[in-house]
Amino acid sequence: MSSHSPDTDEPKSFTAAWIATLLLVVAFIIGLLIFPPLYDAPQSDPSEMVLFVGRFHPILLHLPVGVLGLLCVFELICSTRRGESKFGEASLLMLVVGAAGSVMAVFAGIMLSREGGYVGGNFSLHQTMGLIGTAGVLLSLVVRIVAMSRYSSELLNAYRALYFISFGIMGLGAHFGGNMSHGNKFLTEHAPEWIKATMVSTEKWMLSFVEKPKAEVPPEIKPGPEVKPPVTSDVGEKPTPPPAPTGDQKLVFQHVILPILTAKCNKCHSEEKSKGELRMDTYEMAMKGGENGSNFVAGNLKDSLSIERILLPDSDDEHMPPEGKDQLTPEEIELLKWWVLQGASGTQKVDDAKIPAELQTTVDGILKG
Ligand code: HEC
Repeated sequence: MSSHSPDTDEPKSFTAAWIATLLLVVAFIIGLLIFPPLYDAPQSDPSEMVLFVGRFHPILLHLPVGVLGLLCVFELICSTRRGESKFGEASLLMLVVGAAGSVMAVFAGIMLSREGGYVGGNFSLHQTMGLIGTAGVLLSLVVRIVAMSRYSSELLNAYRALYFISFGIMGLGAHFGGNMSHGNKFLTEHAPEWIKATMVSTEKWMLSFVEKPKAEVPPEIKPGPEVKPPVTSDVGEKPTPPPAPTGDQKLVFQHVILPILTAKCNKCHSEEKSKGELRMDTYEMAMKGGENGSNFVAGNLKDSLSIERILLPDSDDEHMPPEGKDQLTPEEIELLKWWVLQGASGTQKVDDAKIPAELQTTVDGILKG
């Protein structure tokens, strides 16, 4: 039942390991209370500090990946006859470091998600599995210390099973995070056919648990911080259409089209971030376009780069918004197309526009905010 005390007969003290573990578990729980994982758009604007720390997520996550990955090798060695006595303590140290790294990566990740725009199946799976994996690693840390202090090889085996499962969950969760930044095809694109088929179908199957079918997406734009009117930039460009019109003076671009762009595009295409050198927070900039120009070409869907990219399949690397981000609803896409087709005007009034009947409810929803 119990193996011999390694090397010496002195009972080992695990005080330091216990303290570290306790701190990590407490930090994990308190952290989750302060920053609960959200699966919808955040309701309030996060502080600059939160956003700053959040940006470290892609850096921090490499620590647990590396350390816990190496620990897998160590645990395989530890499970051999003499392995645990030689490498048990080193493994424990790695487990503590890996668990600490996971906790930090989780919180940086949650803070990153407060930037908004993180929705969809990849995000849900990434966040959920990252949390479960981290909780599993913390639990396995506790079990390992108990097992080591009792010299119990049964408990050590139970620990290893728990650890490998947790690491597996974390690894899968990490994969869906990778999908968010590189697109769903990144890993499978160059895979041999037979692996590709299995990988893609497994992934689809997992995503099917969390992804809503497209039709269920409500046509109105969600209220909240996402549809705030665009922040007037202080670098000199004024939004062109006169702001704050009264009553029936609402403008098609300013009050219907711009809110869509603000909600779904301008996290990445405005003053703060201008991906592809494209800004769409004013009419002029939206028309001017980015690196490749011709962003919206009046009356011409084919030449309008934004329309072209919106219509690309979700999995295409150039699809906008990028996969994993809050997508346009079919009604919003129709509205953008309609607006381009009937002239991409910046001054047309809502009342003068012949809005197609099937889009009227969507327009009303947007106008109401
Ligand atoms: C999460 C960030 C993000 C969101 C949201 C987003 N984009 Fe982009 N967009 C990018 C990045 C990154 C690039 C540059 C890389 C590239 O060209 O694919 C880009 C490039 C573009 C370009 C090419 C500009 C040029 O001239 O080369 C267009 C057009 C575009 N986006 C339109 C949109 C539209 C329309 C939306 C909303 C429906 C949107 N984007 C939402 C990140 C985003």
